[in-house]
Amino acid sequence: MVKKIQSIRGMVDLFHQEMRDHLWVIQQARTIAKLYGFDEVSTPILEKTEVFSRPLGQTSDVVSKETYTFNDRGDDSLTLRPEGTAGIMRSVISNGKFNELPLKLFYSGPMFRYERPQKGRLRQFNQIGIELIGISEPFSDAEVIMCGVNYLKSLNVLDKCLLNINTLGDKESRDKYRSSLIKYFTINNSKLSNISQERLKINPLRILDSKEAQDQEIISKAPSFSNHLNSDSKKHFDKVLNYLEVHNVKYVYNEKLVRGLDYYCHTTFEFITDQLGSQGTVLGGGRYDGLSETLNGPYLPGVGFAAGVERLVLLSENNNKIVSSIGVIPIEEKNLNASFEIIENLRSKNISSELFNYGNISKQIKKSISRNIRHIIIIGDQELKTKQVILRDLSEGTQKLIFIENLVDEIMTLDK
Ligand code: HAM
Repeated sequence: MVKKIQSIRGMVDLFHQEMRDHLWVIQQARTIAKLYGFDEVSTPILEKTEVFSRPLGQTSDVVSKETYTFNDRGDDSLTLRPEGTAGIMRSVISNGKFNELPLKLFYSGPMFRYERPQKGRLRQFNQIGIELIGISEPFSDAEVIMCGVNYLKSLNVLDKCLLNINTLGDKESRDKYRSSLIKYFTINNSKLSNISQERLKINPLRILDSKEAQDQEIISKAPSFSNHLNSDSKKHFDKVLNYLEVHNVKYVYNEKLVRGLDYYCHTTFEFITDQLGSQGTVLGGGRYDGLSETLNGPYLPGVGFAAGVERLVLLSENNNKIVSSIGVIPIEEKNLNASFEIIENLRSKNISSELFNYGNISKQIKKSISRNIRHIIIIGDQELKTKQVILRDLSEGTQKLIFIENLVDEIMTLDK
């Protein structure tokens, strides 16, 4: 038998409901980002390798083990983007956009990381993200986090997540902390895993990120970052926390949250769920004031986040239960206003619906059938008097009277 050609491991095809779920998660992000004043942008999926290797750090897992890097036919080293932030910053610099600050940019699209595939972890996955570039003030960290909060709320998953937040301070604080860590981990070097011993030589901060069981006890007794923060860094972080408290955002302060990419400073954060096994981070981000300079750009402070679309699809399960379109048929012209009110309410609840012409009901029913509509609502004077409408199932040939206030709940229970 001829062997079927399969897709590449960790890369999936999307059809029908799966695709609709993806689009919904992306569309909600687009809507919320717009509410916060972010403009959608698109940058190439392929970039020169240095766009990622310098800002993300040679020693980060992403750059050292996970990128899809190859030489093109002109012998240039290119990399499929493993994340969006570095490419966005490259595009801001190469297009001279720093004359238009602040920039508030939204993006969505595929990213590529050569990781071991499992539930919620793919080699080609999709992210949505926002980047706010050009403001160093702490209120913008809080604004970005609030945008994340409201995005997760719009997917009905905020209750399943906990915001973990930390500060990596400014360069002076990080240098001071790095010296303390080097001292501490050098004394304990022989007890560390091989990978952490390697990190000690190049980037000791990343040891705190280690998942190796052998490292955990040593990490738990490591010097604390908060004792090494200078007063500017402390002030920045306190203000961010204060803004979050004013907005009643629940968070935990997690000093071990260093994140896997080197470009971060000051605030870092992740929304973590316990419902997706070990791939619990659904949305993560932070401030990256030094990133632009690693790409030979000017000083450009920035803060942003990205969220994994596949993980959010898993977490939001059936929240996106869009029932097939409902037809709304007014009996007479004078019932149009009531019909508009009802149909707009359905749409505001994510129920796709179509308004048909008034008049000859059987003609409108035929039209509904030709558009694959199974359920229709018939709106007439007689029923409106008692605040009711007729809900008819065209495939079963049954109908019942429903109070308008119960209509949304009733439609949610219908067969698709
Ligand atoms: P990140 O934490 O590396 O941050 O990725 C953000 C999100 O992408 C993760 O929280 C996760 O939901 C999703 N993700 C990452 N890897 C995979 C994978 N292999 N399969 C499925 N989902 C995955 C960044 O990428 C930064 N650029 C975020 C940022 C924006 N920081 C500032 N601005």
